[in-house]
Amino acid sequence: MRADDTPLIRLEDYRPSDWLIDTVDLDINLHPQKTQVRALLGLRPNPAGRLGAPLILDGDELSLSGLRLDGLLIDESAYSATAQALTLHAPPQRRFTLTIDTQVDPSANTKLMGLYRSSRVYCTQCEADGFRRISYFLDRPDVMSIYSVRLEAAKLEAPVLLSNGNLVAAGEMAGGERHFAVWHDPHPKPAYLFALVGGALDHVRQDYVTADGRKVELAVHVEPGKAGRAGWAMDCLVRCMRWDERVFGRNYDLDVFNVVAVSDFNMGAMENKGLNIFNDKYVLADPQTATDGDYASIEAIIAHEYFHNWTGNRITCRDWFQLCLKEGLTVFRDQEFSADERSRPVKRIADVRTLRSTQFSEDAGPLAHPVRPRAYKEINNFYTPTVYEKGAEVIRMLKLLVGDDAFRAGMDLYFDRCDGTAATIEEFLACFAETSGKDLTQFARWYEQAGTPTIVASGRYDAAARTYTLDLAQTTAPTPGQPDKQPVVLPVALGLVGKAGDLPLVTGSAAYAGDGVIVLDQPSLSVAFSDVDEPPIPSLLRGFSAPARLELDLADADLLRLFSADSDSFNRWQALQSVASRALVSAGRSPGGHNALIATAGELAEALAGFLRVQAPADPAFAAQVLRLPVPADIAREIGRDVDPDAIHAAHRSLAAEIGLRLRPHLMELRERLGTSAAYRPDAASAGRRALRNEALGLIALADPEAGARLAEAQFAAADNLTDRLAALAAMTLVPGDAREALIARFAKTYAAEPLVLDKWLMAQALIAEAGTLDRVKGLMQHPAFSLGNPNRVRALIGGFAANLTQFNRPDGEGYAFVADMVVALDRTNPQVASRLLGSFKSWRMLEPARKALAEQKLAMVAQTPGLSRDVADIAERALA
Ligand code: ARG
Ligand code: ZN
Repeated sequence: MRADDTPLIRLEDYRPSDWLIDTVDLDINLHPQKTQVRALLGLRPNPAGRLGAPLILDGDELSLSGLRLDGLLIDESAYSATAQALTLHAPPQRRFTLTIDTQVDPSANTKLMGLYRSSRVYCTQCEADGFRRISYFLDRPDVMSIYSVRLEAAKLEAPVLLSNGNLVAAGEMAGGERHFAVWHDPHPKPAYLFALVGGALDHVRQDYVTADGRKVELAVHVEPGKAGRAGWAMDCLVRCMRWDERVFGRNYDLDVFNVVAVSDFNMGAMENKGLNIFNDKYVLADPQTATDGDYASIEAIIAHEYFHNWTGNRITCRDWFQLCLKEGLTVFRDQEFSADERSRPVKRIADVRTLRSTQFSEDAGPLAHPVRPRAYKEINNFYTPTVYEKGAEVIRMLKLLVGDDAFRAGMDLYFDRCDGTAATIEEFLACFAETSGKDLTQFARWYEQAGTPTIVASGRYDAAARTYTLDLAQTTAPTPGQPDKQPVVLPVALGLVGKAGDLPLVTGSAAYAGDGVIVLDQPSLSVAFSDVDEPPIPSLLRGFSAPARLELDLADADLLRLFSADSDSFNRWQALQSVASRALVSAGRSPGGHNALIATAGELAEALAGFLRVQAPADPAFAAQVLRLPVPADIAREIGRDVDPDAIHAAHRSLAAEIGLRLRPHLMELRERLGTSAAYRPDAASAGRRALRNEALGLIALADPEAGARLAEAQFAAADNLTDRLAALAAMTLVPGDAREALIARFAKTYAAEPLVLDKWLMAQALIAEAGTLDRVKGLMQHPAFSLGNPNRVRALIGGFAANLTQFNRPDGEGYAFVADMVVALDRTNPQVASRLLGSFKSWRMLEPARKALAEQKLAMVAQTPGLSRDVADIAERALA
């Protein structure tokens, strides 16, 4: 399919469904190739729809094997059935039932949408539109039904049979070979929240009693033999359930809650009602096979999917344009949970890093779109950092603007008013307008307008008048389809830092909202602070109070002062990042500015030396973030045009190496101090110590490759956990030579039976910034650990390579050629994985002319490939537009 032949679906064209489906009774006979599905739908005309309209049910690669209306066969002229639709031309204008028989082949389903088999486990993925691959249906989120599901399967093949809701019956079929289970979900839900699982699975179980007294049986199901790795996920589940009771007043609402890990999954996880299905990467953890980063991701994603039970399931989306209504809000909720469980400033820094590297880059390129898109061809291409991460930032700003109390009251009102409905952003915002008494009309622009705003700030101190005047202006660059931008509401949290800390903020300005927040909602404004006794250093956008770029021309000396004296941890971290970033941008722009870079390294090292000695040991997790420079991709985006990835990489390497060289004794001493003999524990404090030690290792390896290699080897040998081993491998990848190859081989041997660990091994190699990497990656495709059929393997090796700034962007274009070929190959089996991979081209327009031309050629090659999926065709078309 060519993208230009695909209809554009528009938000403004929304109309309610002409028909409703109150009940769905599914009877599913599981078989590896011939699964029989019988769906009994209880239909009625929608009073809000068009009277007398035909009934058009969605399908996708379906074939109809039987159809009855109110239990009776119907004349063939009364309906038509294709793979994409089942149409009843003149349905009765009353309640009636349809019995629809379809047959599907789960083993042949390589798209991993609908019903498929993953390592012999039957599972489903129905969001956004996978249910129509199981049965004909009104597959839209505003059609909500009560489901009863009877599953039948061979006992040996699928001893465990799960679906949404509560188990109401189970038993054996005559002959004893097959058995069945019946599940009932009392909560009406859209089809995208339907799920089933069947297979041989082990589990861990735990009883839970909700704050309002409901007994719930929790279970985490995993591949046989892996129950020992399910404990952490269960622990996270219990903690996030308590947290949602305490912080949002939300209780769980069924008698069972099941989590299932499967090894083939397109995304991270899915919030199906009462039956969350996960990519096993985000469930399985033990110290030998999961890193600290994995433990943290599992905590975040278990919470994310659980929190969807209220923000997504009890209240769902009217249409897919409202996706951020559930995703942005739920990301915000999971971020808050992690912040409460761990260190809030460190979590904020990590989230902002992710936001900048994924969302800012999306917003700066041809795939930019608003948090609530106005049109789409393929909805699966809109599960993006903009909808998720920027969507969460919008909620965070809303909370800051209305205040904690009105925010909580607004959430309560939203849960109250919209429970059981398919809602819109307008309905959501209305709750907060009501509880805060604030007009949120302009704020709503965050949902409509794409692009990252830039805040340009400057300050003037008048010693005679004892005033400090802050001038703030905002601009947003054009994005596709939006040439002219309007001002958005930017809450700018700030402080004025004096010699002895924050100065009092005294001003009569209407833009000052109190509590250290200026609301910048005009193209520009000035705020005058009075009674300012000394020239202050402005600390702006504290806590990253708005998802914007800040241009504020502070001298390095002032930034270094903020690094040591700002009361806001985020801005302490940011200050040092800003010093490094400015030097890297200028060196990346015009290579040869080496001396300036060395001077900056000297400044940074001096600031860090004291910090490492005195403060770092008290908060290692924060210190690890401080030691980590901005990533080269961030520098590329800051430069924005005519980007030369090699120049940026070289600058980045030499800055890090210089800092490492100067700090080496401190780093060694710190590593000694932090070295523990205690057994591995995944808690945030222990993880922070490992993070700092390993950050130090990386710097040492860049400064002195030989010393780094020796340290890495020793660390690998001594480590009792994957975090330290993987960090050793990563440090070693920075040092070309035999020792590196030996450690790579040893790692593979150690973890030969662990696909998820080998993914990290594949990725570490794919990220090596050397010309030999492309051949290495092609070679690794033949390794038994790799498979094009498994999304995790593809994301690790091919996705890892596409994220390798210098090698994906090789000057000879071979990196683009390789990734483009992989996109075309993958598209034949799994369009979602292919289109994600094609998204790696999103920053091609900012490259220098030669690379830009090569990238464009390869994008065009993809776009012109016959028989493309809608997913890939849509990305190719938008990337080239
Ligand atoms: N709702 C899921 C989550 O964020 C994501 C599912 C997306 N799946 C897809 N095929 N687009 O938790
Ligand atoms: Zn989600």
